[in-house]
Amino acid sequence: MAIGLDDVVAAETALSDVDGLAGRLIIRGRSLDELAGRETADGMLGLLLGDAFDPAPTGTELGAARAEIFARFKDKLADLAQLPVYDGVRAAVAQLPDDDTAETALLLIAAPAVLVPALIRTQAGTPAVAPDAGVAHAADILHVLLGRAPTMPEVNGLDTYLVTVADHGLNASTFAARVVASTQAGLTSSVLAAYGALKGPLHGGAPGPVLDMIDAVGAPERAEPVLQAILDRGERLMGFGHRIYRVRDPRADALKGALGRLQRTERLHLALAVETAALKLLRAKKPDRPLETNVEFFTALLLDALGFPREVFTAVFAMGRTIGWVAHAREQALSGRLIRPKSRYVGPMPREAA
Ligand code: SDX
Repeated sequence: MAIGLDDVVAAETALSDVDGLAGRLIIRGRSLDELAGRETADGMLGLLLGDAFDPAPTGTELGAARAEIFARFKDKLADLAQLPVYDGVRAAVAQLPDDDTAETALLLIAAPAVLVPALIRTQAGTPAVAPDAGVAHAADILHVLLGRAPTMPEVNGLDTYLVTVADHGLNASTFAARVVASTQAGLTSSVLAAYGALKGPLHGGAPGPVLDMIDAVGAPERAEPVLQAILDRGERLMGFGHRIYRVRDPRADALKGALGRLQRTERLHLALAVETAALKLLRAKKPDRPLETNVEFFTALLLDALGFPREVFTAVFAMGRTIGWVAHAREQALSGRLIRPKSRYVGPMPREAA
């Protein structure tokens, strides 16, 4: 029995492949190395949604969807801002149409891109900035977040992030989306299920705590004692380990590269010391289980450098992963069966049957 479905193949997909032994990620026949730093978030629409919708949605249509999301929710921002940003975005997504159209897919992809910056600003008491449908996705997100035109390294940094996290096989949130889609429910229902799964600290909830951990270390020479104390408390080092990767997550270096193009801060120097210490301590703790740096470690540094508060890192993850959730939900609805595994009953039996 595979508790946790370890190594169980639950679906066939033409969208992405995660090779945990080789440390290789392929998205629609293209390796991550080929995509990260070169492809844009807009370009991922054709790559990931080309089979789901004909014709595939375009960056221009995504721009129009951003404008529509802002028009739909600009008068509800004060209410939505009463919730943590992640929950506010999810509450707004729940109000979108629940069908299988390309229009709804674009609204689902646009929603976190518009609402995360809008809710950050609303909570800070500053007016939300309306998106510009005519600019590229990453540039518009940074423009409405920062209230200024972003620099090219900033746009490249966010594009690299959104491309890098767009799809990653049958991770927990994507699997949740596929389970719901397998019942022939609509795209919004599938994406809402994925939002629920992504929030957990073992999955998408890790990057904020990564930054907390780096800040708790404070100085390179404190890295080993602080991290060892975390391990001694039976807690996990956030940003390390992975269910599939047994070598370094290839996305870690893709994001580290984008960060390096942005700025070399003291924090990056400290983070590299934390990573070195963490890998050493994890090897000592679990010599028989490779625990390497995963995507979240450098995600935390990159999103922080781009100006996102750590409390919204998981919502920014949803900004990138929604396109993968939609692609998998459509693939499952178009080609899959109802997902319904068995379970082994270990509870009590009725008296008469004993
Ligand atoms: C993402 O699946 C995906 O593709 C996910 C993702 C994606 O793109 O969608 O890649 C995104 O979720 C990345 C992971 C983000 N989470 C974290 O960084 C949280 C810290 N990592 C761990 O909690 C853990 O590594 C998991 C959850 C990511 C994976 O855990 P597994 O595969 O279930 O492994 P496990 O829990 O069985 O651990 C095996 C052993 C255990 O030791 P014992 O209890 O048997 O003694 O390794 C230990 C664990 O305690 N271990 C760690 C550790 N990760 C595993 N110990 C300390 N620190 C860690 N980070």
